[in-house]
Amino acid sequence: MASSENLRILVTGSLGQIGSELAVSLSESYGSDNIVLSDIREKSSEKLTGYGEFIKLDVVSRDDFRKIVSENGINRVYHLAAMLSAVAEAEPRKAWKVNMEGLVNALEICSEYGCSLFVPSSIGAFGPDTPLDNTPQDTIMRPHSMYGVTKVSGELLCDYYHLKYGVDARGVRYPGIISSATLPGGGTTDYAVQIFYAAVKKGSYTCYLRPDTSLDMMYMPDAIKAAIDIMEADSEKLEHRNAFNVTAMHFTPERLAEAIREHLPGFEIEYRPDPLRQGIADSWPNYMDDSAARNEWGWEPEYDIDAMVADMLRVLSRRHEEGKLDYTEGKS
Ligand code: NAD
Ligand code: SER
Repeated sequence: MASSENLRILVTGSLGQIGSELAVSLSESYGSDNIVLSDIREKSSEKLTGYGEFIKLDVVSRDDFRKIVSENGINRVYHLAAMLSAVAEAEPRKAWKVNMEGLVNALEICSEYGCSLFVPSSIGAFGPDTPLDNTPQDTIMRPHSMYGVTKVSGELLCDYYHLKYGVDARGVRYPGIISSATLPGGGTTDYAVQIFYAAVKKGSYTCYLRPDTSLDMMYMPDAIKAAIDIMEADSEKLEHRNAFNVTAMHFTPERLAEAIREHLPGFEIEYRPDPLRQGIADSWPNYMDDSAARNEWGWEPEYDIDAMVADMLRVLSRRHEEGKLDYTEGKS
């Protein structure tokens, strides 16, 4: 593995919810000259400027992917390009292509160029047959969504390339990620971000999940910490290399609304469950056991629900006061 001093890092899908904030942290930790950012979309002029060179890349194109790795001396890849659960279910064949062909390309290229590789899996890798309370690290995984199918397949492929070709692939099963910089890209847990924008902007929110739907969640600073820490962890200590359960909190929409009301007493929420996303959420854990991550590489989140809510409302309220809170309900 390249030492931290001579890392050259490529981030795929860097304009997304996680990539846009991971890029900033990677640039601060390893130097912006050592970071190459990419996405299938064009970057706007101001976004991510100063955090690394930006190069447009469709990860399905193996030749373009290889060219960027080879020409930039890349030795670590954060592979974030993917379609999330709700958008994947709307276009399952496209989701298979992006999530799987993109990943196989990443693995092949990392094998060829000796790169270490971070690949995020998800609570979406679980399914209705999984024990949903205190979901174990190693358990039944038979997801019913296309997103979940690609996530379980991805975990297995990463293990395979590690065992067969020695690729230093690592990953975590992220829960729903909550953040204020970039809106989420079409997942089932997006409500837990949308609710803050709606609360600040108009004092009310219509939730597409039932009030009692429990899901694991994490605030973005902890998600970034997990991504960096697992790649810096001692490889010898990792037994579950590619699919560590990690969580920071779990709650229902009803509980989140209560926590928001501590700051905005007039906040109102109504529920209009969407059968697609409700069905997906019902098949995901209520809360996971993340002791393997804690024991094998020292995972420990900083933010609980109260700290996360206070920070989200602080950041978004300030943006709203400055007239910069860009949000239309239903679009995320
Ligand atoms: P996102 O949808 O916000 O961003 C994904 C990015 O990938 C987008 O900028 C998109 O333009 C880009 N992309 C799509 N197709 C591409 C292609 N063919 N080539 C290159 N880029 C392409 O997603 P995110 O929330 O940032 O998620 C990143 C990773 O983390 C994904 O693997 C996702 O499954 C995983 N994850 C996210 C969450 C979460 O709550 N955000 C939870 C669990 C796992
Ligand atoms: N936030 C993601 C989704 O809902 C979880 O992987 O798709």
